[in-house]
Amino acid sequence: MVTAGTVLMAHNVIYLHTTLHGKLRIWRRELDRADLKGNEQLLDLGCGRGAVLIEAARRLPTGHAVGVDLWSGKDQSGNRPEVTLANAAAAGVADRVEVHTADMTALPFADGSFDVVTSALAIHNIPSPEARYRAVDEAMRVLRPGGQLLIADFWPMARKYAAHIGQGTLRGLGPGYWYGGPWLSVTLLHAVKEP
Ligand SMILES: C[S@@+](CC[C@H](N)C(=O)[O-])C[C@H]1O[C@@H](n2cnc3c(N)ncnc32)[C@H](O)[C@@H]1O
Repeated sequence: MVTAGTVLMAHNVIYLHTTLHGKLRIWRRELDRADLKGNEQLLDLGCGRGAVLIEAARRLPTGHAVGVDLWSGKDQSGNRPEVTLANAAAAGVADRVEVHTADMTALPFADGSFDVVTSALAIHNIPSPEARYRAVDEAMRVLRPGGQLLIADFWPMARKYAAHIGQGTLRGLGPGYWYGGPWLSVTLLHAVKEP
């Protein structure tokens, strides 16, 4: 018999697997698919402690990986810029990682200044739909023509971001990125800014 306790335990095991291993494994795969040359300027929106930022930086020996965040401890524990920089140093990529305290709905960067913009499970943390769309518009604004946008978010959100920008492909990232079960699965929006 399946009890509530069994369901809860399965939920916790899947959640832990995603946060400790699954999301990293999937981002490694997606960054490899992005086919980076190694000299790109990459921006990670809502970088937190740097999981995606640092994986990206490993692939950018002559480029830069820039993270922005408001460092909300509610959204991620131990969320502080010095923790992200220490993680980058421990990974041996501190020379190509920068972090800024900035709101992704009003980015402090010029139009077209990045080759790649990534965001992992961060835009949904913005409370209002209007502000979430503003973050997506900002991502497109700072991307250069021909640059790549990679946003991983819960599937209903990712679908809305794609509809908002009117382009891009959506792909479910599978059980390795389930936050406890298929009802909290993550979808990748991949778009290339029109030249
Ligand atoms: C769930 S965490 C994800 C962190 C990281 N991307 C990862 O996958 O491990 C969401 C992050 O988004 C950040 N965040 C939320 N709203 C933001 C905003 N308006 N501007 C910048 N960062 C924001 C939070 O502070 C938090 O670090």
